[in-house]
Amino acid sequence: MTLRVAIVGLGWAAQSIWLPQLRQHPAFAVTAVVDPHPVALASFARQGSESQGSDIRVLADVDELPAGSVDLVVVAVPNHLHCAVGCRLLAKGLPVFLEKPVCLSSGEADRLAAAEHSGGAVLLAGSATRYRTDVRALHSLATTLGRIRHVELAWVRARGVPDAGGWFTRRRLAGGGALVDLGWHLLDAVSPLLESITFDQVVGTVSADFVDNPDCRAVWRQDHAARPRCGDHGDVEDTARGFLVTEDGVGVVLRASWASHEARDVTMIKIEGTAGTATLCCTFGFSPDRRRGSTLVHTRDGDSAPVAVTDEPIGTEYRRQLDHLSSLLADPASRGRAIQEARWIIGAIERVYESARLSGARLRDESARLSGARLRDESVNPPCRQGAHSWKPS
Ligand SMILES: NC(=O)c1ccc[n+]([C@@H]2O[C@H](COP(=O)([O-])OP(=O)(O)OC[C@H]3O[C@@H](n4cnc5c(N)ncnc54)[C@H](O)[C@@H]3O)[C@@H](O)[C@H]2O)c1
Repeated sequence: MTLRVAIVGLGWAAQSIWLPQLRQHPAFAVTAVVDPHPVALASFARQGSESQGSDIRVLADVDELPAGSVDLVVVAVPNHLHCAVGCRLLAKGLPVFLEKPVCLSSGEADRLAAAEHSGGAVLLAGSATRYRTDVRALHSLATTLGRIRHVELAWVRARGVPDAGGWFTRRRLAGGGALVDLGWHLLDAVSPLLESITFDQVVGTVSADFVDNPDCRAVWRQDHAARPRCGDHGDVEDTARGFLVTEDGVGVVLRASWASHEARDVTMIKIEGTAGTATLCCTFGFSPDRRRGSTLVHTRDGDSAPVAVTDEPIGTEYRRQLDHLSSLLADPASRGRAIQEARWIIGAIERVYESARLSGARLRDESARLSGARLRDESVNPPCRQGAHSWKPS
């Protein structure tokens, strides 16, 4: 049976990932698209209405999608609208596939869970990295590593600050920066490996050294095309670093960077267990600054051996996730699972931000204290200027 799909949000993710993938997939037929913005609709029309099919309904709001009109709604709107749009659709009983980040707070997770419960339709989540061949090989190797003690997660881009008219770099609209964007993928990729995903302790820092530099933009997104801008300066981090400890004592080191001084984008996942270590190095996502291929290495008792990983074309994981969607939709056990997984990811992200905010506040207090002390000191001992004699109390 072919599943009728509506796509909500016709931006980069819809037009570069979901529309092409769904169009080529025999199990799905796109029957409606929803976007209120003329620029997005014009770009959709330019993509070639002949290849889209003339029977696709073009709508301006999800209210125009009645219950029962489609079998699945793919939602790819800006982050701050995920919860509101997802809840409206779920409450009508329409099954939803929500792009990451599924939610921006634990409160939003509660609202989505309530809408899934009351509407009776399932919520599925964008979780593409788990469908990569190299990540699957890592998961399978992890089963041989004994008890997991420590995990290192890093996605460090050379240059790749997404812009999208500015919403990606506005906290109010994006919920955060690289941590919400790339960190979500990293945590999602390893969540099936961790027995306890409740974090006992979390510390983190954030920085924003590249976010406003136009040379650091994600060029593959072509975001600067005629788009209304939300503002010129970002107020989110381009880099986040965290150290998290689960309730059962597993350490998780997390680093997410939209830009850096590196030449290539590198994603690294290292799992240390009682019986060995597995290290995956690859490049997630669509950036052209890629590492060549993926490597997976198994280390045990001083010996390191490569594990064969098949390289695949960029974006294959999205197609593979679609292959799995029909069975997820049909499985009653899917109900509640996506939001449960999203809840622990957003819980971890909230705590890294909270720690970074507190340490940032402490730093500001300390520098205010130091500059206050300096001012007080200078009023008693004025600083010695070049060419002037130092003042000495008589
Ligand atoms: N899984 C991945 O690898 C991946 C990659 C890119 C983006 N994403 C996610 O997809 C989402 C969209 O990202 P993007 O890069 O496409 O952003 P974008 O800004 O390019 O597209 C968002 C689209 O949503 C539309 N929109 C805004 N309000 C709407 C509403 N109320 N109803 C319908 N449409 C509305 C906008 O007009 C725009 O066309 C984000 O949450 C992002 O995190 C995921």
